[in-house]
Amino acid sequence: MDKMTAKTEIERLSAEINRHNDLYYIQNTSEISDYEFDMLLENLQKLEAEFPEFAYSYSPTKRVGGDITKKMESVVHRFPMLSLSNTYSQEEIIEWENRLKKLAEGKLDYVCELKYDGVAIGIQYENGILKQAITRGDGTQGENVTANVRTIRTIPLQLKGDYPVDFEIRGEIFFPLEKFNELNAQRVDIGEAEFANPRNTASGTLKLQDSKVVAERGLDCFLYGLYGYDLPLEGHYESVLKAKEWGFKTPNPTDNFIKKTDSIEGIMDFIHYWNQNRSKLPFEIDGIVIKVNDYTQQQELGFTAKSPRWAIAYKFKAERVETVLESVSYQVGRTGAVTPVANLIPVQLGGTTVKRASLHNSDQIQKLDLHLGDTVQVEKGGEIIPKIVGVNLGERKANFQRIEFVENCPECATLLVRREGEAQHYCPNESSCPPQIKGRIEHFISRKAMNIDGLGAETVDLLVQKGLINSYADLYDLTFDQVVELDRMADKSADNLMKGIQVSKEVPFERVLFALGIRFVGETVAKKLAKSFKNIEAIQQAGFDRLVEVDEIGEKIAISVQQFFLEEKNNEIIARLKNAGVQFEIQEKEGATDKFKGKIFVVSGVFNSFSRDELKEVIEMNGGKNASSISSKTDYVLAGENMGPAKLKKATDLGVQIISEDEFISQLNANE
Ligand code: IVH
Repeated sequence: MDKMTAKTEIERLSAEINRHNDLYYIQNTSEISDYEFDMLLENLQKLEAEFPEFAYSYSPTKRVGGDITKKMESVVHRFPMLSLSNTYSQEEIIEWENRLKKLAEGKLDYVCELKYDGVAIGIQYENGILKQAITRGDGTQGENVTANVRTIRTIPLQLKGDYPVDFEIRGEIFFPLEKFNELNAQRVDIGEAEFANPRNTASGTLKLQDSKVVAERGLDCFLYGLYGYDLPLEGHYESVLKAKEWGFKTPNPTDNFIKKTDSIEGIMDFIHYWNQNRSKLPFEIDGIVIKVNDYTQQQELGFTAKSPRWAIAYKFKAERVETVLESVSYQVGRTGAVTPVANLIPVQLGGTTVKRASLHNSDQIQKLDLHLGDTVQVEKGGEIIPKIVGVNLGERKANFQRIEFVENCPECATLLVRREGEAQHYCPNESSCPPQIKGRIEHFISRKAMNIDGLGAETVDLLVQKGLINSYADLYDLTFDQVVELDRMADKSADNLMKGIQVSKEVPFERVLFALGIRFVGETVAKKLAKSFKNIEAIQQAGFDRLVEVDEIGEKIAISVQQFFLEEKNNEIIARLKNAGVQFEIQEKEGATDKFKGKIFVVSGVFNSFSRDELKEVIEMNGGKNASSISSKTDYVLAGENMGPAKLKKATDLGVQIISEDEFISQLNANE
C-alpha cells in the first residue's frame, strides 16, 4: 500500500472505530459485534505499525495506556475550579431559590443533575483533539493527568460535529461499582488489602504513574459543564445535550440523570426520585446538584468567595440502619488471610436485605469494641457487602461478651500469625489447610489465569475431597477414568474437562505466572515480570535488586516472589507443570527481527508517534536491549522532546549516537 492510500485508510478506519465507540459507550447501542469491532481495531493497529508517521496521538488504538508519568506537573486552571455550597435540607433549597428570584432578572429555569461521587476533572480540547486533563487540585491549580485520562473510553480523544475550536469541559471521573468490586475481589485474591471506597480509589487510580494500569481498571466519566469564550449555546442544559453530539458522555434526560424545570416542585420531585432510587445506580452519587440554566443569569448572580451563587448541592444523608450482631464468622482465603464477617439479624437497607457486614480485620473489631448482641449501625457504600460504622452503646447489656479475634484457624486449627506491619491474620498451614488448597487451585483455573473450561469450584471441591488433587500440578495427572467417576459427571463433561486441561498448556507464560498465585503478583505484575525476565528460571534465580529494577515491582512484591521460590515444594510443582507442557517461557511475537541484536538503547523524552513503552517494546522485539541510564556500553540514545540537558551532555561526552524518533522508525523500516 502506498503512503497516501495508507493515510486515507487509517483516517477512514479511525472515523469508523470512533463512530462505533460513540454508539457503544455514549449512545448505549451497537451496530457490530465485539469481534467485528476488534477486527477493525486490529486492521488499524497493523496499518499504524506499518506507517507510524500516521499513528496519531488521538488514534482510537491509543487507549491502552503505556505512558509513564513519573511526576505529575502542576498546571494553573484557565477558569478556576470552584466547589459547590452544600445543603442537607429541602428548606435550604427553598431559601436559595427565593434568594435567586430577588437577585436575578427574568424567569429562572433550573437544571437538576446527579452529584457524582468521584474526582472532578477539567479537560481541554483544541480543534477537536484532547489536549490536557487537569484535576481540581486547590481550585487554582491542579495536576496534569492527561496520560491517564486518555485511557478512559468514555472520554473522546477526537470530537465530531460542530464543536468550538478551544474549550474546556468539566466532569466527574468515577469508579463504576462493578469494576470497583471486581478490583477488590482481585486484590483479596492476591493477598492485598481491599480499597476502602470507590471515590478514593478513583482518585488514587487517576494519580498512578503507569497509565496501562489505569486503562485496566475501567474508570468512567460523566461530563457536566462547558467553559470557553465562544460557546455556541446560551444555557447549561442545552450545552450539555449538545456536548453529547460532539462525542461526550453527558447525563441523559431519558434516564432522569438531568432535568430542566422552572419550579421548586420540579426540583423537589427530582430530589425525591433519586433519594428513592439511587441505590439502583451502577455508580455512587452523594447528592443532587441544582444549577441556574441561563449563562447570562449565571454571570449576573456571580460567585461568593468559594462557590457560585447560581448552583447548590443537596447532599443525601448516608443510608444507615440499626440491627443486631448475632455472631462473627471467619473466612480463610487462598493466601491464608483470615477475614472476619459479621452475621446480622436481616434488615432492609437501600432496597436490599442485609444479613452480613464486612469487618476486614481484628483492628476493625477492636476499634468498634464489638460485643456479641450489640445493636450496630450499618451503612452501605460501594462495596458488595455493607460496613458496620458504629455501635448503639445504649442497647448494650452487661452480659454481652466482647468479641475476641480467633487464635486458631477456623478450618484447620493451626495457630494464626500476624506479620509485622500487616493488619490481617494468616493461617500458615499452606500445605494442608483445605480452603487454601482449594483456593489456590480455583485461582489457577480461573478465567484470567489458566481459564480451564469445564472445571469449576464444585468440581475442584470434589476432586480435593476424593484425594485426586492436592495442588494444581495434580490437574495434569488426572485421567478421564478418574474424572468420569465423580458424582454428576457425565462422559461429555469429563471429556470437556480433560480437553480444557490440555488446552491450558497453550496459555501464555504471563498468565501462567499469575496463575501460580504468588502473593501480591496480580495480572499486571505478572505481565511485567514475564516481559522483563522472559522465562521462569530467570525469575527463580533473580536477586532482590534485579527484581525491584522492574517497573512497578517494589520491595513487598520482590520479597514475596523470592519467598515463593525458596519453598522447595513450589519449585517441584513448577517442574511438574513444565513437564506436563505448561508454558514457562515468553513466546516470540509476530514481526520480531534481530535488527537491533546486541544493541543497547536508552529511550528518553516525549515522543510523537509512540509512547516510551511502545518504543522499548519495539526495541526488544527486534533484538535490542533497553537500559535506564547512559553509559559507555550504550549504543543509541533514542531522544524525544524534552530530554534533559544532563543526559544529552553525557551522551555527547561518551560519544553515544543520538537518534530521533523519525530516524529510529526509518532504521526499523529499512530493508537491508
Ligand atoms: S458543578 C462551580 N455538577 O461536586 C462548581 N459538580 O463541590 C461546578 N460534582 O468538585 C461544579 N457532580 O467534582 C457539578 N453534576 C455536578 C457534579 C459536581 C459532582 C462535584 C464536583 C465538584 C464538587 C462540588
